[in-house]
Amino acid sequence: MATTLSSFALIPIIILVIIVNGGEARPSSSSNNRPKAFFVFGDSLVDSGNNNYLATTARADAPPYGIDYPTRRPTGRFSNGYNIPDLISQKIGSPESPLPYLSPELTGQRLLVGANFASAGIGILNDTGIQFVNIIRMYQQLEYFKEYQRRVGGLIGAEGAKNLVNQALVLITCGGNDFVNNYYLVPYSARSRQYPLPEYVKYLISEYEKLLQRLYDLGARRVLVTGTGPLGCVPAELAQRGRNGDCAADLQRAAALYNPQLERLLQELNRKLGRNVFIAVNTAQMHNNFVSNPSQFGFVTSKVACCGQGPYNGLGLCTPVSNLCPNRNLYAFWDAFHPSEKANRLIVEEIMTGSTTYMNPMNLSTILALDDTT
Ligand SMILES: *[C@@H]1O[C@H](CO)[C@@H](O)[C@H](O)[C@H]1NC(C)=O
Ligand SMILES: *[C@@H]1O[C@H](CO)[C@@H](O)[C@H](O)[C@H]1NC(C)=O
Repeated sequence: MATTLSSFALIPIIILVIIVNGGEARPSSSSNNRPKAFFVFGDSLVDSGNNNYLATTARADAPPYGIDYPTRRPTGRFSNGYNIPDLISQKIGSPESPLPYLSPELTGQRLLVGANFASAGIGILNDTGIQFVNIIRMYQQLEYFKEYQRRVGGLIGAEGAKNLVNQALVLITCGGNDFVNNYYLVPYSARSRQYPLPEYVKYLISEYEKLLQRLYDLGARRVLVTGTGPLGCVPAELAQRGRNGDCAADLQRAAALYNPQLERLLQELNRKLGRNVFIAVNTAQMHNNFVSNPSQFGFVTSKVACCGQGPYNGLGLCTPVSNLCPNRNLYAFWDAFHPSEKANRLIVEEIMTGSTTYMNPMNLSTILALDDTT
């Protein structure tokens, strides 16, 4: 009787082992053979759908968002197709993009791929994007990262979770909204009455330093930090503040002050930490290339958004009743603020292989080669 029982008891175990092995990309399951985990923090440029789970107006969950995504459906990404995190995931050989942290599907083995904590509308400061009400502000994204590590610890042990995070790639994209959806949101905004622009930029950088230090304290060791793009040149600003199609001067000035100081901050942090944890991604230069010479990159325009209405298709939101261009690959901007998938691909190519002008101190190919051998 006892032998019968134990042989029955073995059957589910055998089945379990087969399922686990069948789901593995490689025969050995040591953590070093798994592709790197990937964690994403920031705003709408990298949000892959967290805001779908929140009561907020900052969302991309209606057509034509997602029109060129494999499912042809909106996902919460602010893109016609893939966004920057998707394309980086593909480059590092992840089996899938990290899921939004709020997705109920982010459980079990899928946690080991990483997670995306980004939330459209947020900035460095808590008071950025207040009009969107319910969004995941940066300090909360970092709290969720801590909670994530506890959950992964339950799966592979605390030591396993620590290694997974130490070996992971991290992307953080924020700062643009601190200008667009705060300082310059309305004339005489509270922040613009509090600080002249150069002082505001200094304040932002000092607050960003605290967030990056916290990210390091939580275990991040390879962090791609993007600067802001040419904020004054997006279709929304050309429509509202630009003169005769020229980029809006105040926002261009903000980006020109902010980006070099951010890069200097990252260099200082690396010096202090004694290692290259933070990598500056010069998105301003990447964008400038196709803003100043769109045809060289196969675009018919870098001023008019594919989806929208009004001058430059830059007014209001991209909705089912907006103008929509037939060929998204010909437009640098998908909507009034966000690059098209094609533009995202160009940006990720530069992230992979760019010179130190674009990727300081090194590009992602170099990072992957270095981290593979250690
Ligand atoms: C943002 O809010 C959190 C929680 O209230 C707080 O801990 C943090 O210091 C705030 N950050 C800034 C920059 O005020
Ligand atoms: C990456 O950066 C290095 C150093 O700047 C450069 O030599 C190399 O050509 C770049 N591209 C690749 C694919 O590594």
